[in-house]
Amino acid sequence: MRKMTEILTADNSFSNDSIIHMYDVWTSYDGKGYTLQGINMSVENGKNYIIIGPSGAGKSTLLKLVNGMVIPTKGQIEVFGRRPNIHDNIFKAIMPKIGYIPQNLGLVKNLTVMENVLIGALPRISKVKSFFKIFPDKEVSDAENVLNLVGLEDKVKRKVYMLSGGEKRRVAIARALVQKPELLLADEIVSELDHVSAKEIMDLIIEAKHRINLTAVMIHHDVQLALDYADKIAMIKHGNKIAEFNPNEMRYEEVVGMFNSYES
Ligand SMILES: Nc1ncnc2c1ncn2[C@@H]1O[C@H](COP(=O)(O)OP(=O)(O)OP(=O)(O)O)[C@@H](O)[C@H]1O
Ligand SMILES: [Mg+2]
Repeated sequence: MRKMTEILTADNSFSNDSIIHMYDVWTSYDGKGYTLQGINMSVENGKNYIIIGPSGAGKSTLLKLVNGMVIPTKGQIEVFGRRPNIHDNIFKAIMPKIGYIPQNLGLVKNLTVMENVLIGALPRISKVKSFFKIFPDKEVSDAENVLNLVGLEDKVKRKVYMLSGGEKRRVAIARALVQKPELLLADEIVSELDHVSAKEIMDLIIEAKHRINLTAVMIHHDVQLALDYADKIAMIKHGNKIAEFNPNEMRYEEVVGMFNSYES
């Protein structure tokens, strides 16, 4: 049987330099209908790939396929050359390379900002030390540096439930960056923020991308934000990838028009 990378590179739309390959992927939560239908996707190393689409389109499901929380019903995926599955030991070995910020941010509200951020360092810490929350000085100083980067240096000891929505998003980004991921998956981390705050958060991620070799797959509702920050945009509607384009290929009005005109 041919390897999936061979199948995908046989099709010119897939690049050898991609770290995510999806080939004709279908998912079903109930075994009856399909949430995602025949998705082909390829994300190149170092790029910022942004997924847009209306509520219920299947965007979060798509991201969960990449981190192995959802397994395809049909089709194939490779991430860093492995099939994503959080229960599979081979994939578990590469999970530290993937920083995932879920739609609800996944923060522990009763822990401090610093404690939440240090959770990102856990994969590097022995089980005993992590149980007793003993973090090496180097991990703590790395966490402090990242908290400086996201502008939360004065809130290090504050409990997360006391923070504003924008500050919570900064904590979630800091936690993901402390993990030192090669791939960042971010599910609507700027939704509910005004446009200026959303741009601040996106600038943070772009700055982090420049410091480390980071590939990002992000979900956004805001078309303009996607056009401003993406290297490539995929539009998902009713479980289908209805378009994929570079931001300089499409004007805002065209993207919105395409979005509104599509019927499944
Ligand atoms: N765990 C689950 N069990 C059953 N159905 C689910 C589950 N998660 C999502 N779905 C359904 O799958 C579809 C796609 O959901 P998904 O969360 O991927 O959409 P989305 O595009 O991220 O939406 P939103 O923009 O509202 O976050 C929806 O109809 C949703 O109800
Ligand atoms: Mg979602």
